[in-house]
Amino acid sequence: MWRDLAPVGRDAASGGYFRQPWTGAESELRAWFGEEAAARELDVEVDGLGNTIAWWDPAGAGRRGGVLTGSHLDSVLDGGAYDGPLGVVSALAAVDVLRSRGEAVASPIGIGVFVEEEGSRFGLACLGSRLATGATTWDRARELRDRDGTWLPDAVSAAGLDPSRGLVDLSGITAFVELHVEQGRDLVDRGAAIGVASEIWPHGRYRFDFRGEANHAGTTRMEDRRDPMLTYAMTALAANKQARTAGQRATFGRVEVTPNGTNAVPSQVTAWLDARCDSDATLAALVGDIERQGTDRAGRDGTHLAVTAESVSGAVRFDAGLAQRIAADHEGGDWPVIPTQAGHDAGILSAAGIPTAMLFVRNPTGVSHSPEESADTADCLVGVQALADTLARLAS
Ligand code: GLV
Ligand code: MN
Ligand code: MN
Repeated sequence: MWRDLAPVGRDAASGGYFRQPWTGAESELRAWFGEEAAARELDVEVDGLGNTIAWWDPAGAGRRGGVLTGSHLDSVLDGGAYDGPLGVVSALAAVDVLRSRGEAVASPIGIGVFVEEEGSRFGLACLGSRLATGATTWDRARELRDRDGTWLPDAVSAAGLDPSRGLVDLSGITAFVELHVEQGRDLVDRGAAIGVASEIWPHGRYRFDFRGEANHAGTTRMEDRRDPMLTYAMTALAANKQARTAGQRATFGRVEVTPNGTNAVPSQVTAWLDARCDSDATLAALVGDIERQGTDRAGRDGTHLAVTAESVSGAVRFDAGLAQRIAADHEGGDWPVIPTQAGHDAGILSAAGIPTAMLFVRNPTGVSHSPEESADTADCLVGVQALADTLARLAS
């Protein structure tokens, strides 16, 4: 499976992946998934957005009471190979393991692939699972535009899908288990191949629009400028300091400058803040502090700052009993139960009331959202066994 996936959406220069939703790369990935499902004689449902579930139902129980696993196939811009695909490949492999073991599986097992998990194109993280669970509405989603100005419904239609066909039905799902590459160094530091998630930190994306006045870079005296780049620069420094001193996370990773010319003071800078904190209240306070410092600076620079929340995900505490049951009683000891600062569809399904768990597979570099993301084959195989064992427990 990895051999087939390796070239899809890969940038030759960086070695990273550009698998944005409703693009050619993503269509190839959807076709690949369809072929893998067909080779296993799974029953595939694809909804109007491209969310897909492939069902294995050896007992002929029907869809209700099903156990869902899977993840996503899209990537961030210049992402790694594993964030998302590891959960999908491992789910297919886990079904192979259960079949070869002749495991008595009473409930159907679905392998789900959710679209636009990263929010890399339309800015709203976990868009597919948010829509499928009702966490957001189509009326809101249809107003989203990508960086080129393409409306979401047009992007979906251009990919050969029909948004009016509705969404996958998650109402009968009794449990969701998402396996994911770990995105930090916790498991490396513990010397553990597998971990189980306890919680996801609350996180959000906020658009900061700094408006100033375009002017000549040579003839405008320094004291006469209204330069939004300065306000942005100071706000980025303040965000870093504020998060560092509070033990939280704040990142400006995307900036657009208008008109983006070397010899002009810009008229506008738009920058996106990604902030993550250990509680909802801390997140609100951190973003509020950064906005306040940016606004104070705008007052001194003669510029203006407006902040818009584009994607906010509250704290998720996974079902503690389920996590403990999954983590307990393994050869070599219990698997560690650890928090994560990364967002996942599992968080959306958990918030929708579906008992949800996550398995993490050790990442030797600890790097993610980068071509340097890594996973060893031996650990991935342990992950497949762990997922198969977990699904067997839940579906039997
Ligand atoms: C998704 O991986 C995120 O945490 O942003
Ligand atoms: Mn992911
Ligand atoms: Mn990711």
